[in-house]
Amino acid sequence: AISAFFSTSSSQSAIKNVMVIGSGLMGAGIAQVAAATNHQVTMVDQTNAILTKSMRSIEKSLDRVAKKKFKDDTEGGNKFVADTLARITITTEPNTAIADTDLLIEAIVENMRTKHKLFTDLDNAAPSHTIFASNTSSLPIREIASVTKRKDKFGGLHFFNPVPMMKLVEVVRTPETTDDTFDALFQFSKELGKVPVSCKDTPGFVVNRLLVPYIMEAVRMLERGDASARDIDTAMKLGAGYPMGPIELADYVGLDTTKFIIDGWHEKYPDVPLFEPSEILNDLVARNKLGRKTGEGFYKYD
Ligand code: CAA
Ligand code: NAD
Repeated sequence: AISAFFSTSSSQSAIKNVMVIGSGLMGAGIAQVAAATNHQVTMVDQTNAILTKSMRSIEKSLDRVAKKKFKDDTEGGNKFVADTLARITITTEPNTAIADTDLLIEAIVENMRTKHKLFTDLDNAAPSHTIFASNTSSLPIREIASVTKRKDKFGGLHFFNPVPMMKLVEVVRTPETTDDTFDALFQFSKELGKVPVSCKDTPGFVVNRLLVPYIMEAVRMLERGDASARDIDTAMKLGAGYPMGPIELADYVGLDTTKFIIDGWHEKYPDVPLFEPSEILNDLVARNKLGRKTGEGFYKYD
């Protein structure tokens, strides 16, 4: 029992202080789960207004978790929520806050240039022991890491939306990622209560290499008029056992993120029909209908 206690205690881990950059759908979820498992978290975004909104969404999500975890123990649940929130600090200045960071997790927009700019600055500002990780859905980790001098301490840590509910983390290593770095990322994922799997640095790793073409095939089916969005979703939920259909899942992931992924792959692999862009998707994104997060995508949300 004692060894079990120590092996799960974050005080025994190399990673205590975590910085999460980008506090959107993914960053807020990652910050929440890291704080809920006793890590000190610094959450970063571009403005305080965004950060305040993200803290509110973390609180809402924690309330849902607490309701389940502390069924009849309201006091215990309230303490869990308050203690978790108290472990999260917010800032718009990552370059100063990075000084105490053991692990940096980047979850900003899916754009190589923006990620390169961020990592170039942070590589100069961070202590040498800090491990860098990206939560990218589709970009090569090796290419993201290329602008840093810590390619040995760089890996992919790919979470799934909604982070508090989804158990999987894909831990991605490049040829330069050392065993120590990989092991630290793998162990950290376990500390969060997640199940890590090991992936090579291939497009989409495991899940998105299968899931994104599937979503895009559903969008093409809709474009051809083969079936309505509702019928496609109902069919895949009831006929294949998925918790969400592919069209509602696209809305859930975010149509901008879905478009960034598919456009990036299409540019790199123009001959792969599964990576073809879609008119409907392009049109919705152009009209800022980005899915659930903006209140409308393929569907409308309250
Ligand atoms: N925080 C905390 N709890 C949450 C939550 C959140 N953000 N979202 C849902 N929950 C909880 C609810 O409180 C609810 O708890 P109870 O069972 O105690 O009532 C439970 O989850 C179920 O929620 P709902 O009843 O509202 O809805 P649901 O049964 O449809 O479950 C879901 C919601 C877990 C999101 C489920 O629909 C699902 O698994 N959908 C598929 C998600 C998926 O495929 N994600 C991967 C996207 S791809 C990706 O992430 C990778 C990428 O790079 C793009
Ligand atoms: P999002 O649009 O919800 O959030 C991105 C956040 O990053 C925004 O709050 C934005 O203000 C912030 N940001 C942008 N540039 C920044 C910068 N230079 N410094 C600080 N903050 C910055 O996006 P998301 O869905 O959370 O996706 C974030 C990353 O996670 C992307 O790389 C995406 O591919 C990946 N991802 C997304 C999903 C998903 O289902 N949405 C799942 C797994 C991985």
